[in-house]
Amino acid sequence: MSNAKIRLVGLNKLFHTRFQTIEAVRNVDMEFAAGDFVSIIGPSGCGKSTIIRMIDDLIKPTSGEIFIDGRRVSPHRRIPPEVIRKIGFIFQQPNMYPWMTVRENVMLPLRVFGLRDPEWARHADALIEMTGLREQRHAYPTELSGGSMQRAGVIRAMVHKPDILLMDEPFGALDEMTREQLNLELLDIWRATGKTIVFITHSVQEAVLLSNRVYVMGTNPGRVVDEIAVDLPRPRNLKLIVSDRFAGYCELLTGRIGQVELSQIK
Ligand SMILES: Nc1ncnc2c1ncn2[C@@H]1O[C@H](COP(=O)(O)OP(=O)(O)OP(=O)(O)O)[C@@H](O)[C@H]1O
Ligand SMILES: [Mg+2]
Repeated sequence: MSNAKIRLVGLNKLFHTRFQTIEAVRNVDMEFAAGDFVSIIGPSGCGKSTIIRMIDDLIKPTSGEIFIDGRRVSPHRRIPPEVIRKIGFIFQQPNMYPWMTVRENVMLPLRVFGLRDPEWARHADALIEMTGLREQRHAYPTELSGGSMQRAGVIRAMVHKPDILLMDEPFGALDEMTREQLNLELLDIWRATGKTIVFITHSVQEAVLLSNRVYVMGTNPGRVVDEIAVDLPRPRNLKLIVSDRFAGYCELLTGRIGQVELSQIK
């Protein structure tokens, strides 16, 4: 896939702490095509967050290469600002500034990237409207429910119109119903905008519902152990969840993750 949006080649990451060296990920190869929706699933500590933090240049790989739009951006240089602008990052915790309103929080990337044209503020307001946060736009983050807070996190990551969304277990802390709702909203956004989405999750159902492809990772050291294509029709909806094919994929994926965990006991 030479026209990959993001390509990771032989990525390694060591963390040196005072007492030990941790091999967080070893020899990770991954590819994400333009407009792809790919999940990364695996046990705690297998390096999922480390991988997307390397893509976003929050940390540097120890070795290996990262290409974005065919351009080699790592490990030897800082990712240029115009490439960083292509990326939106959605954290596991919403990380909203408590002293700013929802709207101010959401518009923060526009300030960071110097996007001052009023057109951008209108775009932010359109996103706020689209995700049903209009009534709460002048509220402070502590006044929001968990679901609304995560919606605001999604909008904040998208407000500067990135091509790529990196999502680190964005809905993991929410109850199942809210999570399902947000999954469907995310699918709508993805369909409407055609972004490349890299989605980290612990949930097999979530991975199957959302993704075209799933990377399964294992620990000690963190590495890719399998790659599964999810060949289910789109648009996907809640009806799909009760289908046999959906259950079949969940079983397949659970089996692969189970094998990873069993192999770690040895
Ligand atoms: N800044 C750091 N310093 C030292 N070790 C780190 C650092 N960040 C991550 N690690 C270690 O690297 C390994 C991978 O961590 P990472 O956070 O990427 O895992 P994860 O798959 O995202 O786990 P989880 O599902 O719990 O979020 C772990 O052993 C972790 O302790
Ligand atoms: Mg993590």
